[in-house]
Amino acid sequence: LLDRFSTSNKSLTGTLYLTATHLLFIDSHQKETWILHHHIASVEKLALTTSGCPLVIQCKNFRIVHFIVPRERDCHDIYNSLLQLSKQAKYEDLYAFSYNPKQNDSERLQGWQLIDLAEEYKRMGVPNSHWELSDANREYKICETYPRELYVPWTASKPIIVGSSKFRSKGRFPVLSYYHQDKKAAICRCSQPLSGFSARCMEDEHLLQAISKANPVNRYMYVVDTRPKHRMQSWWATQKDIGRIIVRISSKVRNDEKIRESNEKKRLNAMANRAAGKGYENEDNYSSIRFQFVGIENIHVMRSSLQKLLEVNGTKGLSVSDFYSGLESSGWLRHIKAIMDAAIFLAKAIMVENASVLVHCSDGWDRTSQVCSLGSLLLDSYYRTIKGFMVLIEKDWISFGHKFSERCGHLDGDPKEVSPVFTQFLECVWHLTEQFPQAFEFNEAFLLQIHEHIHSCQFGNFLGNCQKEREELK
Ligand SMILES: *[C@@H]1O[C@H](CO)[C@@H](O)[C@H](O)[C@H]1NC(C)=O
Ligand SMILES: *[C@@H]1O[C@H](CO)[C@@H](O)[C@H](O)[C@H]1NC(C)=O
Ligand SMILES: *[C@@H]1O[C@H](CO)[C@@H](O)[C@H](O)[C@H]1NC(C)=O
Ligand SMILES: *[C@@H]1O[C@H](CO)[C@@H](O)[C@H](O)[C@H]1NC(C)=O
Repeated sequence: LLDRFSTSNKSLTGTLYLTATHLLFIDSHQKETWILHHHIASVEKLALTTSGCPLVIQCKNFRIVHFIVPRERDCHDIYNSLLQLSKQAKYEDLYAFSYNPKQNDSERLQGWQLIDLAEEYKRMGVPNSHWELSDANREYKICETYPRELYVPWTASKPIIVGSSKFRSKGRFPVLSYYHQDKKAAICRCSQPLSGFSARCMEDEHLLQAISKANPVNRYMYVVDTRPKHRMQSWWATQKDIGRIIVRISSKVRNDEKIRESNEKKRLNAMANRAAGKGYENEDNYSSIRFQFVGIENIHVMRSSLQKLLEVNGTKGLSVSDFYSGLESSGWLRHIKAIMDAAIFLAKAIMVENASVLVHCSDGWDRTSQVCSLGSLLLDSYYRTIKGFMVLIEKDWISFGHKFSERCGHLDGDPKEVSPVFTQFLECVWHLTEQFPQAFEFNEAFLLQIHEHIHSCQFGNFLGNCQKEREELK
């Protein structure tokens, strides 16, 4: 086992074992190094050296171990075994299904009942005269990826909910995420509307009105689209029927005066945006609503940003200035700041303006989860306790259908679905604990422990992509 941090290739000699669940290395001082197979992100065999065949294992918890295996043949065997052991095709092969916590059935059941979300909504003060529990999704009929129990304004009838859900991507209609009792203001969440050029959905407009009216203090509310505007436009520009409009923009631009040019361009751009069939709410048809874009990039940008960050951090012997320019160009901290900015916008809208906020991104399970949970954590000190933080994760991530299994790559699936969305959330919270340590009951150790277990597959909490899937997996 090579010491990565020494420049003189210091190493420890020992024996490597592969069990069904772990890689175990015991060195000559009997010190044990355990690595869970599920934690392995990649295994790499490097070019043969005089001392043997180097094997580098990168882990999802950012650990890197570097072995030199004396015989190339053995190295090849270990390499192949690790590739197989670290990639599972079925949920049933994940660690949680074989792990024995040495508990009887009633103790296990207690674990699942540790967090009661009905209790949490009660703590926030719902149901009340404005918000009620809806049984519309009791059987997951309206939205498969939402939980069974959802809170909506009491004026939102079932037909309104059903109509709105048909107008929203993946059926994820606007529902309550957090209720601020003093301000009587709410954080709500949903997915993007599927609005076409002139398409309207009366039920969706009605539901947004209902959310706005459920706040008796302030009659306007914010709709926060967490996506960057420029990216939306380039996406639309790739749509075929948009091509013609773009051509018209450019030919017109050549003939007109400067000011008229830019006005026309704006108007046509907005038209192009709406024509593409997805995206913004049509502002004309939603009264008393203020729209806000916050510019958090998508899962693919985040994945490659982390990749760049790890490359910079893993390069030995970088000068300080090269390290900083590498860190800067990875974009990682800029992305973290965008998420924080959005959460701060939410907190201010509620605390300063008494306004309710509806948050969405595309499908409403990545950026929306980040922003809603971080905003709630800024507003409510309960979420900064150990129990409260668990409740927050249960509510805005696990129950609202953040796709843990796909984002963490629990199964051998599409690598383009993997993205450090939850890792970013934990990092945002970590920055807050660094700045305001006295505002938190927990510290870095707790956050790292949670980060270990979103990838370990040792417990059922983070398995699957939504509540329905976890129930099916029992
Ligand atoms: C399960 O274990 C707990 C603690 O060891 C014990 O108090 C309880 O009686 C056990 N329950 C059953 C059903 O065996
Ligand atoms: C809603 O939008 C349509 C076009 O999409 C427009 O004709 C209508 O006047 C709008 N209604 C309101 C109340 O703004
Ligand atoms: C970055 O590098 C340091 C020291 O080289 C290491 O301790 C740390 O784990 C690395 N972090 C990541 C995220 O790889
Ligand atoms: C917000 O509500 C408080 C009472 O909770 C009130 O004093 C304040 O004026 C309100 N602010 C705005 C901007 O409406």
